[in-house]
Amino acid sequence: MLRSRISGIGMYVPEEVVRNEDLASLMDTSDEWIVQRTGIRERRFAPAGVCTSEIAVPAAQAALADAGISSADVDLVLFATLSPDFHFPGTGCTFQARMGMPGVPVMDIRNQCTGFLYALATADAFVRIGTYRTVLVVGAEIHSHAMDFSTTGRDVAVLFGDGAGAAVVTPTLDTGGPRVRSVHLHADGRHADALRLRVWDISRKPYLQHEGQVGVVPPEERWPEMNGREVFRHAVEGMTAALHEMLEANALTAADIDLFVPHQANMRISELVARRVGIPPDKVVHSIVDYGNTTAASIPMGLCLAREQGRLRPGMRVALAAFGSGFTWGSALVVW
Ligand code: COA
Repeated sequence: MLRSRISGIGMYVPEEVVRNEDLASLMDTSDEWIVQRTGIRERRFAPAGVCTSEIAVPAAQAALADAGISSADVDLVLFATLSPDFHFPGTGCTFQARMGMPGVPVMDIRNQCTGFLYALATADAFVRIGTYRTVLVVGAEIHSHAMDFSTTGRDVAVLFGDGAGAAVVTPTLDTGGPRVRSVHLHADGRHADALRLRVWDISRKPYLQHEGQVGVVPPEERWPEMNGREVFRHAVEGMTAALHEMLEANALTAADIDLFVPHQANMRISELVARRVGIPPDKVVHSIVDYGNTTAASIPMGLCLAREQGRLRPGMRVALAAFGSGFTWGSALVVW
């Protein structure tokens, strides 16, 4: 039986390092508050003029090189982001043009922090049914251009960073080697208003009109809005449930997991989820310390960093889990 596997990974982050102290000079916050509540010490910000598809290119090139292939071998691109270059066309198109891959189909995945898992599930399905053989999955975000760095926006602004990650998904025979064993996806749109950016509200006619002025967006709709406590609670519950679902589907227990690469929402969320599922702390990857929450990029970035640290090795059973705006959430089991 045909299965899919991750045969290459890559990541890229912009050069500018922004430490907690740097944010404290812009808003009423402190290194102590941020570290204590989130685990984050620093993050990267892209300069003005740089867009999401641009930072995705070096990550994708690294993943292709890691898989030992070139962009000419790719027959499908899946691009996950919540910070697209434009409202339309999708960032998959602008990315594909930058990569010089005309004619290759592209699909945009708009599932926020769970975007990488939705893309992985889609790649896995296409590869298993034989429609596509080499799928380039990309998760990339530029958050720093769309956050409120005043004290009003501090609950959100301290959490997020810019970055890109990519994975190459290719076919393999089901003979017990590296493979995607299962992906489990969920969503509950009843919580859409708990974490959202309303700047494009198509119910307004014309859509940028407010109080009779065309082109004016009310301040509260310009920046991401978040109910931090609600997101925190649902993230812990959702990721924990999705991991239990994954273990049950594969007839495994937490003791069978060699490495846990969670989406990096908050270090306290990752720690709580691991504790509830029974995954020991030394098996959990925390890239959030140096990069903040990079949304759709965080899982492929976490895989890259774990491998760089010698923590991700062939044959390992790797658990993935994510939660994000929507709400969307899910899990996956990958044999490396
Ligand atoms: N610096 C200093 N103080 C801050 C702050 C910041 N960056 N952000 C918020 N505060 C203040 C609040 O205004 C509040 O002050 P008050 O008590 O005077 O009203 C106080 O800190 C406590 O706020 P609260 O929201 O209760 O803190 P918290 O312990 O819930 O932590 C988050 C806030 C955002 C860190 C936390 O809710 C969280 O991580 N939620 C999940 C967010 C997430 O993961 N989002 C992405 C999902 S993919």
